[in-house]
Amino acid sequence: MFTLPELPYRYDALAPILSEATLRTHHDKHHAKYVEVTNALLAEAGSGAASLEEVVEKARRRGARKLFNNAAQALNHAFYWECMNPARTEPSAALSKAVASAFKGPEPLRRQFIEEGLDHFGSGWVWLTIREGRLQILATHDGDTVMRVAGLTPLLVCDLWEHAYYLDHRNDRSAYLAGWWDRLVNWEFVSQQYEAAAGRAAAWAYPRPVATAQTPAQDAAAARR
Ligand code: FE2
Repeated sequence: MFTLPELPYRYDALAPILSEATLRTHHDKHHAKYVEVTNALLAEAGSGAASLEEVVEKARRRGARKLFNNAAQALNHAFYWECMNPARTEPSAALSKAVASAFKGPEPLRRQFIEEGLDHFGSGWVWLTIREGRLQILATHDGDTVMRVAGLTPLLVCDLWEHAYYLDHRNDRSAYLAGWWDRLVNWEFVSQQYEAAAGRAAAWAYPRPVATAQTPAQDAAAARR
């Protein structure tokens, strides 16, 4: 079964952009629920998946919508927590150079990322990604994810669901996005993902599932997958 990763900082560490109340609800209720439903669906199917990324990929391929939505949301949220840090961080020299080349500097990247998030209708996620050396801003709807898209590495994501910002910013998604970008982005993590895309570091991955007691039939089924 998959566990809910702990936040990599204290619940009050991202205030005032994201309050303790927001993180407690967002992480302990919303994220926890996605993990719980994913585990329940996998248990129901007698499935002992190797990684959450594989669960997402297989569920997408098979059109298993409920499993896909919950597993992808579990994955997206775990990545989102890593994308933030209360300490001020800077992008690496290599990433800065790539941003200068793709966006003509950090300010146009900031503007375009925030615009993409603002223009996104309804719930979803806004991403900075890299594919074949090309940086690109993308948005996905609802629980959809860019994880396990062939050749693509996510560098950064921001949660656009109202549960991410409504307690602190009400309907002002713009204030959330600007504060988030200016105060919370963990550029060390983004830089590490950039290195991973170039094959020079390990990419982030969801914590592997912990073993649970399985029947011999479930063990055999898991071994065949
Ligand atoms: Fe969320």
